[in-house]
Amino acid sequence: MPLARALADATIVITGASSGIGAATAYALARRGSTVVLAARTEPALREVARHCRELGGRTLVVPTDVTDAEAMRRLASTTVAEFGRIDAWINNAAVGTIGLFDEIPVAEFRQVLDVNLLGTANGIRAALPHLSAAGGGVVVNNASVLAEVAMPYQSPYNAAKHGVRGLADTIRQELRATGRGSVSICTVLPATIDTPFFRHAANHSGRQVVPPPPVYPPEVVAETIVRLLRRPRREAYAGGAARLIGMQWRLAPALAERVLGWYGRYTQFGPTPMADTTGNVFHPDATAQPEGDWAGRRRQLVRISTVFGLAAAGTAVGTAAALARKLTR
Ligand SMILES: NC(=O)c1ccc[n+]([C@@H]2O[C@H](COP(=O)([O-])OP(=O)(O)OC[C@H]3O[C@@H](n4cnc5c(N)ncnc54)[C@H](OP(=O)(O)O)[C@@H]3O)[C@@H](O)[C@H]2O)c1
Repeated sequence: MPLARALADATIVITGASSGIGAATAYALARRGSTVVLAARTEPALREVARHCRELGGRTLVVPTDVTDAEAMRRLASTTVAEFGRIDAWINNAAVGTIGLFDEIPVAEFRQVLDVNLLGTANGIRAALPHLSAAGGGVVVNNASVLAEVAMPYQSPYNAAKHGVRGLADTIRQELRATGRGSVSICTVLPATIDTPFFRHAANHSGRQVVPPPPVYPPEVVAETIVRLLRRPRREAYAGGAARLIGMQWRLAPALAERVLGWYGRYTQFGPTPMADTTGNVFHPDATAQPEGDWAGRRRQLVRISTVFGLAAAGTAVGTAAALARKLTR
């Protein structure tokens, strides 16, 4: 079921709103007159995003919140209802990443990535559900990743958490229908690589600078996908054409797609600059209210990189067709 009221009258909570896609989504909704409730750990960055939302025409409330704290998430929901009377939609968007081989990532970091990306989403859904039901229905959007469906090397906890988000969403959707609460929609977004500060925020144990693997899309691509889901909820939506293509290849020829993406991830996630180990923003907030990560240079390389990506995709497509043909002739 879509939002019970127009976006201009809707109250929408966004986690991870102090940076990247969260900030871009807040701006997209503020432009449509929505009331946006902004949550993350970095209060000054949230205030800056709120200021710009008001300039764009939206009402705002800033509620500094750590998504790993279930009680704080319940307070985020109750504070929203106390201020605006209801919650119409809830966007679980906060996440952290740590880059490195599985056996080089410290256990505490591995655990924190699961805690923020998976349990933080569960905390959000748990906090939102009673209020969405009380409002007569509403929409939860979980910003996962195409890495909820496929895998990339050097991102094991992130991949595991995002696969978990997808499974969690599917289960809760089933339970809501089975218990007659189908008026609350649960949607999962599967974006491709997006130009945000994420790649500078991430913890890094690779010894090299982390860069976004191309092709890289602007954060507005995800923001507009989220806006579309609020108006017309669907189980899942890709954001960025590369995500749809990779997802399709993974479903049709998983073994081959896994090999190709393994190779692609190994050679495209790192820049030439050596980097000392860092815990990034995994344990401490570091947001600056920037929707973009200044990877526009890599966006401009899109044509050249798309050729490489296209060749890899074409190779996988040939393999996919062969795999399909083998299956059909069996
Ligand atoms: N960039 C990509 O290529 C890409 C691709 C697919 C999916 N995504 C997904 O898109 C979402 C947004 O990521 P982004 O690219 O915009 O990265 P980003 O710029 O690093 O934003 C991450 C946001 O999460 C917040 N956050 C981190 N830990 C938190 C915690 N414990 N409690 C509350 N908030 C927390 C950060 O704010 P504070 O530090 O202030 O808490 C920040 O606002 C994530 O779910 C990510 O997995 C990104």
